[in-house]
Order: sequence, then structure tokens, then C-alpha cells
Amino acid sequence: MTRTHRIAPSILSADFARLGEEVQKVIAAGADWIHFDVMDNHYVPNLTFGPMVCAALKPHAKKADGTPIPVDVHLMVQPVDALAQEFAKAGADYISFHPDASAHVHRSVQAIRAAGCKPGLVFNPAAPLDVLDWMLDDIDLVLIMSVNPGFGGQGFIDSALRKIEQVRKRIDASGRDVRLEVDGGIKVDNIARVAAAGADTFVAGSAIFGQPDYAKVIAAMRGELKR
Ligand code: DX5
Ligand code: ZN
Repeated sequence: MTRTHRIAPSILSADFARLGEEVQKVIAAGADWIHFDVMDNHYVPNLTFGPMVCAALKPHAKKADGTPIPVDVHLMVQPVDALAQEFAKAGADYISFHPDASAHVHRSVQAIRAAGCKPGLVFNPAAPLDVLDWMLDDIDLVLIMSVNPGFGGQGFIDSALRKIEQVRKRIDASGRDVRLEVDGGIKVDNIARVAAAGADTFVAGSAIFGQPDYAKVIAAMRGELKR
């Protein structure tokens, strides 16, 4: 089966003093989605940005011809529900959260969908996939963490590949259109392995924003995905 690949640069590694420009620049360089890492200094030991910043960036999340680019909000917050609603109002397209951060995962997913967004569930490196037994039919995205959440620039944890393979089987068996995204330590030199394991959506922060030429990195990633 051929799957369309999506590259989702994480603005966690962008220049925070020029975020709107950075979003435009990375879209012009070929980004398919914008990945927006929300950290609350509680669920994870770091603090980033909230719904007001998302709302300010939303008008920049489009190509030069006006085609909208999905805003992929990754919530690393606890509790989940109130902030998820604020991000829906702020223009998020996808909203994903960590099931261990919500007391009522099914309710949180339903609330995200009711707010007009596509819900996703995120799995930390040591988290089991059991919740998917009950939730896969209700979500549009599974996000596998290949680093511990909280910081950009960490090394890829290899056991994520096995987990991606397992999720791929579950998604294919479900017959549903669910994106399988991977987040953490994705670079030009490992993206092909991650795709071979079954991922179709690739978050990359430091690999893209850490280089002067974003287009060159994104093109190199696409080259690896075609091989
Ligand atoms: C980590 C974040 C990631 C991070 C990835 O908690 O969820 O999205 O920005 O950064 P890199 O690609 O640098 O590992
Ligand atoms: Zn993320």
C-alpha cells in the first residue's frame, strides 16, 4: 500500500522572536503540516506556548497561494480538556494528547471532535498501546514518541520502531484512515527506517530549524522517503 507522507516541522526549534516568519519560511520550504508543541511545566518539565500564540500563528499557516496548512497541536499538558477547547478555538486542525494525562480519555477525544478538530492520542516511549483497543475507531491520528517529551534535539529511541510496526498493523486492520505520526529525533539519515516501520507523518524540529536551508533538509527527507 502506498501512503502519502507528511513532513511536520516542529516550531519548538524555530526562532521564537520571529515565529510568524518562521512558519511562513518553513511552509515555503515544503512543510506539509505545522507541529505545535504545547508544554505546561507540569506534565513535562518545560514551558512553551499557549492558545494565544496558536491563534496569532494561524493566519500564517497557509501556502503563498492561500492553501491552508494543517496546524497539528501536540498537547503535553495535564489536565487536557480545558486547554484542548481553547486550542480548537485558536484554529488547531489536529489536537493530540497523552492518554495518561486525562482521567477520561474517551470523553476528551469526543470533546475535541465536537469542537471541530481531529483528535489524536500520543504514546510515550514506555507507554503501552492498550488504550487503542478501545479508542482506535474514534481518533484520526496516533502519535508515537521516539523521545521522552519535553525537549527538542534528543536522540531517537530505537524501540519506537517496534511500536510503530504494531500501530501500523492495528490501523491497517481497522481499515480506517488514521495517520501514524512519529515525533522525536527524526533526521534525514533515519527517516527512511521510520517510514519502513509504517509511519506516514514525520515531526522534525531541530533537524529542520537547526539548518540554514530548510528547503534543502525537507527535500532530502522526501528523497529518503521515495527510495
Ligand atoms: C518533544 C516534542 C517534539 C520536538 C521534536 O517533546 O514533542 O515535537 O520538537 O524535536 P526534535 O525533532 O528536535 O527531536
Ligand atoms: Zn511534538
